[in-house]
Amino acid sequence: MRSSERTLSLWKASAPQPEFTELRENLSADVCVVGAGIAGMSVAYTLAKGGQKVVVLDDNAVGGGETGQTTAHLSNALDDRYYNIEQMHGADGARMAYESHTTAIERIGEISRMDGIECDFRALDGYLFLGPDDSIDILYRERDAAMRAGFRDVELLDTAPNAPFETGPCLCFPRQARFHPLKYLAGLAREVHSGGGHIFTGTHATEIVGGDDAHVRTTNGSFVRAAAVVVATNSPINDRFRIHTKQAPFRTFVIGARVPDGSVPDALYWDTPDPYHYVRLQEVESDAGTETILIVGGEDHGTGEADDAPERYQRLESWTRERFPVEAILYRWSGQVMEPVDLMAFIGRNPGEDNVYIVTGDSGHGMTHGTIAGILIPDLILGRSNPWEQLYDPARISLRAAGEFARNNLKAGAHYGEWVAGQDLSEEQIPPGSGAVVRRAGKPVAVYRDQAGALHERSAVCTHLGCIVHWNSEETSWDCPCHGSRFAPDGEVLNGPAITALEK
Ligand code: FES
Repeated sequence: MRSSERTLSLWKASAPQPEFTELRENLSADVCVVGAGIAGMSVAYTLAKGGQKVVVLDDNAVGGGETGQTTAHLSNALDDRYYNIEQMHGADGARMAYESHTTAIERIGEISRMDGIECDFRALDGYLFLGPDDSIDILYRERDAAMRAGFRDVELLDTAPNAPFETGPCLCFPRQARFHPLKYLAGLAREVHSGGGHIFTGTHATEIVGGDDAHVRTTNGSFVRAAAVVVATNSPINDRFRIHTKQAPFRTFVIGARVPDGSVPDALYWDTPDPYHYVRLQEVESDAGTETILIVGGEDHGTGEADDAPERYQRLESWTRERFPVEAILYRWSGQVMEPVDLMAFIGRNPGEDNVYIVTGDSGHGMTHGTIAGILIPDLILGRSNPWEQLYDPARISLRAAGEFARNNLKAGAHYGEWVAGQDLSEEQIPPGSGAVVRRAGKPVAVYRDQAGALHERSAVCTHLGCIVHWNSEETSWDCPCHGSRFAPDGEVLNGPAITALEK
């Protein structure tokens, strides 16, 4: 059993995930969406409401992938900072970033009101405070850049009001929000369905083809032919190379702590260190009544580059207990974040391929970026102009990000070096329920020992572009450090861009 099944995210533990049947016939549609997370369902919702015939496919349940692992902050105070975005994309780019994320927050509120989706949506303030080693100059610079981008009323305060710890100087961003992402997706799924759309879960896409004969084929051979295909998997499963050189995968860790009702103001909090901490509240119904859960995330590392989750959860817990009145830790989970080299997500036409659209590079703001995709991609498909098209264009090349681009690819290149210099472990050293990469005649083999002691062996070569996978003992998965593919202990794909299982 994978850890993600043992320690479900708060969202998966507190709301049923709508499951549909597997696709077992050939269908035609106006648009086929691959991926039933926030981005895919937002795109499907807009198109279905507009009268388009939509088919959605996912190998998991609705929201069963990374959307179910988020902390669901809704913020237009972007964590990459407006002064960096301005430097990378110019003043217009920063304004478009502000406008698109602001619109995304409002749209989630509107949709939930309009369609009666009970998803705990709530508007609130957000506070950015300093880490112990950080200078107040960060706050001055960010306040000024945020105002230039479009905020009217970011305030520098001496401390966050009524916070249970002394935050010190902080910026207050009004009109942020929070919601329950899986309750929201269940509502979107209901609306897509009642708009004549079809959703199939447990359906693994094995081939995505664009052009005049655009279609998606699935494991059992059935396919969907469509005028357009939208790939809304966390990392695009249709692109072998181009996009993956422009973003890097990270794992982030989250705990959910019960706190006394009313002890923490209902707000978003985050700080300035790298990696940073991010905090919000969520009410959860339990046998004991309504419990207030403080959600705290942080402790990120590059995917596949560390295997020390217990220590990371411990540090998160200590950080939280030093600042908040924690009664008990009830949840812990982790998720994957894709960080684009130039800070903005990739949403739009897949470069070099007609009739295929992608959305990836959440940059830690997956809920708003996914909602932006739900506005921008339908506009592109239906030939409407959209002012955000250029900012999010997946084909863009930002020369200002050249340094980060080179670092990213040097890092990936270093992982190819593991073909010849990996761990040198023998099978006997692998304890039950664990895995390691061992060498056989110089070849890397991913060996997993199950709880009964039996060994399961797969090639350790990632089926995407050939990096060597690493064992993740917390999630009991094989994770690829290059572009974020993840595989179950038996080698089956958990997360793209890889589309096929590790070879036997
Ligand atoms: Fe690209 Fe593994 S995810 S090589």
